[in-house]
Amino acid sequence: MSKFVVQPIDRLEGEISVSGAKNAVLPLMAAVLLTDKPCVIHNVPNLKDVNVMIEILKVIGAKVEIKGNSLSIHVPEIMSNEAPYQYVSQMRSSFDVMGPLLARTGVARVPMPGGCAIGERPIDLHIKGFKALGAEVEFGHGFVEARAKKLVGANIYLDFPSVGATKNIMMAATMAEGVTIIENAAREPEITDLANFLRKIGAKITGVGTDTIKVTGVSEFSGTEHITMSDRIEAGTFLIMSAMHNSNVLVKNVVESHLKPVIAKLRECGVQVETEGDDVRVISSGKLKAVDITTLPYPGFPTDLQAPFMSLLTIAEGQSVIMETVFENRFTHVPELNRMGANIKIEGHSAVIKGSTKLQGADVRATDLRAGAAMVLAALVADCETSIHDIYHIDRGYYNLEEKLKGLGVEIKRIQD
Ligand code: EPU
Repeated sequence: MSKFVVQPIDRLEGEISVSGAKNAVLPLMAAVLLTDKPCVIHNVPNLKDVNVMIEILKVIGAKVEIKGNSLSIHVPEIMSNEAPYQYVSQMRSSFDVMGPLLARTGVARVPMPGGCAIGERPIDLHIKGFKALGAEVEFGHGFVEARAKKLVGANIYLDFPSVGATKNIMMAATMAEGVTIIENAAREPEITDLANFLRKIGAKITGVGTDTIKVTGVSEFSGTEHITMSDRIEAGTFLIMSAMHNSNVLVKNVVESHLKPVIAKLRECGVQVETEGDDVRVISSGKLKAVDITTLPYPGFPTDLQAPFMSLLTIAEGQSVIMETVFENRFTHVPELNRMGANIKIEGHSAVIKGSTKLQGADVRATDLRAGAAMVLAALVADCETSIHDIYHIDRGYYNLEEKLKGLGVEIKRIQD
């Protein structure tokens, strides 16, 4: 176990770069299971979750080569239809292999992913989709097993625009006979990135980015090369961090259109945010106004930036309310921020934040990935040193965070706890 020891900083100035998106690259890697031809994925962040997915793919039969930020993956043959528990238990998105395995071989066996720190996270919508495509699904001994002699296109309505279910059903449907329509589909940019990859290997998909996705089944796929989209959540974290200081920071490799609600809220807080080509500049005085936020599926305010934005609102002038509508338990950072002197009360699905706090350096925990990022942001505006424990959560999703922050003059050390 390691911890970060972070010193506060008055002014942030310079440039910070955004890496490839964790939540895009994991399904891209799983999608390679659909084809027996080699694929290369570029702009891959070297994160723990990526390494877990590599291990799962190897067990299934993939030959994987890592060259810098590129991954060559070739699955000439499926050697095992089962994702091993030891890896799935470490990373929920291992469940992404279910759809492509089912499509390619007619059998997929994956351990139940279970809940995690932010909620129960059921998989009922994934299963509803597989069954609609003609699969028989059984649960037993901690596994989900789906079997189908043949998948047949179907109309599938998702009760909630689940990102995971949309990805899995879309991948399963690529080889189903006939047409599949996914209604109330998720519209997240990571779905579009996945669909772009699938189209490059030969899938027929239209409607991505809208709530109705149409997939026409094909029987064969080719190989391809693909550049992973830039990480909109990492980018948003850096924009929020910059806004919290007296700053002039250029956040590089940002797709501004992916972050519209976040940029709008930063501007409401009084921050200057300007697009410069593929980069976004934040100029802030560090004096911020309170704003209210409701998290929503894309294109609404992303739940993954709720915790980092809450750190910002602890120092803004006035009272803010954040309503979390996507996950049922995504306020585990609240007690940690309160340990640093914040004044936040949870009322049902809302957090009421009384601002203008001078946060105090303290020992705190990263209770999940984004909650961990929120603690780093809070630590940078505290009155003295903060130690953030359990940073393995942060390592799952922020590539090279210490080095990137050091580039802006931040003093941050990783210490064995
Ligand atoms: N849900 C169901 N049934 C299902 C699937 C989902 O009820 O079958 C519910 C969930 O319990 C949750 C809501 O629907 O309350 C949203 O879940 P969704 O399936 O959309 O999320 P996910 O695919 O599990 C991905 C990201 C999350 C991100 C969410 C929402 C990955 C690997 N994970 O999760 O990212 O918060 O979409 O945008 O892509 C993170 O990066 O820190 C993270 C948690």
